[in-house]
Amino acid sequence: MRTQVAIVGAGPAGLLLGHLLRSEGIDCVVVERQTGDYVLSRIRAGVLEQVTVGLMERLGLDARMKAEGLPHDGFNLTDGGRLIRIDIAALTGKQVMVYGQTEITRDLMEAAPERGLEVIYEAADVALHDVESDAPFITYSRDGAQHRIDARIIAGCDGFHGPSRQAIPASVGRAFERVYPFGWLGVLADVPPCNHELIYANHERGFALASMRSPTRSRYYIDVPLTEKIEDWSDERVWDELAIRLGPDAAAHITRGPSIEKSIAPLRSFVFEPMRHGSLLLCGDSAHIVPPTGAKGLNLAASDVHYASEALVRFFKANDVDAIPGYPDKALARVWKSERFSWSLTKLMHRFPEDGPFERRMQVAELDYIASSEAARTAIAENYVGLPV
Ligand code: APR
Ligand code: PHB
Repeated sequence: MRTQVAIVGAGPAGLLLGHLLRSEGIDCVVVERQTGDYVLSRIRAGVLEQVTVGLMERLGLDARMKAEGLPHDGFNLTDGGRLIRIDIAALTGKQVMVYGQTEITRDLMEAAPERGLEVIYEAADVALHDVESDAPFITYSRDGAQHRIDARIIAGCDGFHGPSRQAIPASVGRAFERVYPFGWLGVLADVPPCNHELIYANHERGFALASMRSPTRSRYYIDVPLTEKIEDWSDERVWDELAIRLGPDAAAHITRGPSIEKSIAPLRSFVFEPMRHGSLLLCGDSAHIVPPTGAKGLNLAASDVHYASEALVRFFKANDVDAIPGYPDKALARVWKSERFSWSLTKLMHRFPEDGPFERRMQVAELDYIASSEAARTAIAENYVGLPV
């Protein structure tokens, strides 16, 4: 098979890119290792920046998001007794949209056939070849047969563990990484949220987040040491811990119920440079990871795809040979700013095992400053709603 862009991975990055290219009449094929059902079973964050909402609008795939998503005007930080509201609507004139990443993926997946976007699921042993040349190709096996897709460009949208980043020789790439000494234990439950807006809490027992998917479905997190086993966390134990860490006001409004999903995810900051090598572009988690504090993962994948699709349109439709080489710098400038914000919100809201009383006083002082300064709240708000692309 021959196409213009071979896309590896049908997560949000790969599907969004595929749709944007198809909407411009550019040929592409998406190759995914898992089944569609498996891709939809992964539960991830659910706060969308304007750039992500805007891409869904541009594709005309925003109807369900507009009907079921929850626009939020603000969110809250709490530290013991006080609740600091970050009024993002008043401070930035913008909103964020609470809508699960799973739902975005489903909307993109379901629209693929009618938009002429071919997605090949259950492709095993996907390998990238000749990425340094102008005629790269991918190979995979499916149903016992070997397949080959020849392309002009390969887009690596295959997440942190996929083969695309590995196809860039170690001599030309550089990875920057910070691993955190805790993970987030998340629970999803069909109970009403304890608050109409998100609450990020820094308690002496650790971090907690009250989030939601809908008026009847809640998503909560606590941070736990990486040595913890999920089997040791009964639902009751998680609810008890949430009630303590979120504080008495929120606790009074927590509705408990059986978890429908419960898992522990490690936290990591990671950036791989450059995000292009020859005819290979990296988008989304294949090139970078953020800790979930601030919910930037999906939104960064969306901004990468925005820059990548722009570059590919200029390349294929206007023969602009500078477009592809220009992609990494544009994407990385925004990636590093989101990395900084996610890292700083993580530092502010978690108790690190290596921190002592001095670091704790720094957190208190920073929260005092945020509570008292509109300039400080504006800086947080403009990062939370998403920096411009
Ligand atoms: N061959 C084909 N596909 C692969 C391979 C492979 N060898 N390895 C991984 N994939 C697929 C995965 O199965 C997954 O469906 O690539 C896809 C990558 O999707 P995500 O991990 O969701 O990454 P991305 O699309 O960049 O999304 C970025 O969404 O999933 C979140 O945490 C992620 O929030 C971040 C954002
Ligand atoms: C979520 O709802 O899953 C969520 C929200 C905000 C975050 C992280 C996760 O910062």
